[in-house]
Amino acid sequence: MNVFAMRTALTGIKPTHVPHLGNYFGAIRPALRLVESHRTAFFIADYHALTTVRDPNALRGYVYDVAASWLACGLDPARTIFYRQSDVPQVFELSWILSCFVATGQLERGVSYKDALAKGESPNAGILCYPLLMAADILVFDADVVPVGADQKQHLELTRDLATRINHVYGEGTLVVPEPLVTEAPLVPGIDGQKMSKSKGNTIPLFIGSKQLRKLCLSIVTNSEPLEAPKVAQGSTVYELFKLVASPEEAKAMEEKLARGGYGWGHAKEELYEVLEALLAPMRDRFSQFRNDPGELDRILKQGAERAREVAAQTLERVRARIGIR
Ligand code: ADP
Ligand code: TRP
Repeated sequence: MNVFAMRTALTGIKPTHVPHLGNYFGAIRPALRLVESHRTAFFIADYHALTTVRDPNALRGYVYDVAASWLACGLDPARTIFYRQSDVPQVFELSWILSCFVATGQLERGVSYKDALAKGESPNAGILCYPLLMAADILVFDADVVPVGADQKQHLELTRDLATRINHVYGEGTLVVPEPLVTEAPLVPGIDGQKMSKSKGNTIPLFIGSKQLRKLCLSIVTNSEPLEAPKVAQGSTVYELFKLVASPEEAKAMEEKLARGGYGWGHAKEELYEVLEALLAPMRDRFSQFRNDPGELDRILKQGAERAREVAAQTLERVRARIGIR
């Protein structure tokens, strides 16, 4: 495939926690698959995390956690531009430029800002301006598509609005108007059957030890039918998780065993543990290798940042010329 004809897919990862199985199937794996069809840029949105993370050691640690996680999940830095947002100063310059084109009311209608107000918090201006910084991340890279979860759609709409508005004032081609790519990945249930989410405390973290992993699998909430009873696989948390990880044949086999009776939820949980362990054990090893070598992580992110800055500098040169900053 001609690399130059490829569209650019870019996404940002907020460093606030080590990813869980929901993040893996819902965001990481679909993003990594884009490498086959797109020029890809993935970055760690460390300045976005500053709106909420106030402990410097924690922030530093989360950045390494996230970098090691994506590398462990298969990100190849030779094929993807992988960098820290804070290493690309042009992002912050563009963010200022964008702020001069947005009505304050539009930012005040932002979902996160409104949520914070609704909770009675007094949100900082960083939370208000969060979508502007995100728009700058995207526009500085001339990204064509942005894979995001459904909760980020409003931010993408603002980004498109801003790019269109600026093109209208300064001419087409000043900024690339990006498209969201909302992944059709399945919603991964947590151990309590609700959507897996770090805020619900129901996650299966990706890189926990095998003993803890087994314990979590065994603690998945199920019905309390007796062992002999025939059981419906569809819709049960154990089976839904199993289906994500196992082959279609293995999933079919489990469905049949459950339907036949004489096979309990405990058996299903053990099988789930086995397939998860087979998937996660090699990833866990790679994660600890990277996580214990921050020097190597810094080196990879620095190389990525050099490539990102080249792209960003070109965009800024174009934008500055058009807006009259010279
Ligand atoms: P959390 O809900 O744990 O805070 P985030 O909001 O940080 O997770 O989500 C990061 C990415 O992972 C988003 O793209 C989101 O859509 C995806 N994701 C999170 N939880 C799930 C889930 N349970 N199933 C599928 N995708 C998920
Ligand atoms: N706001 C995104 C989130 O909370 C993270 C993010 C920052 C991002 N900049 C971005 C995502 C640019 C896509 C593109 O998950």
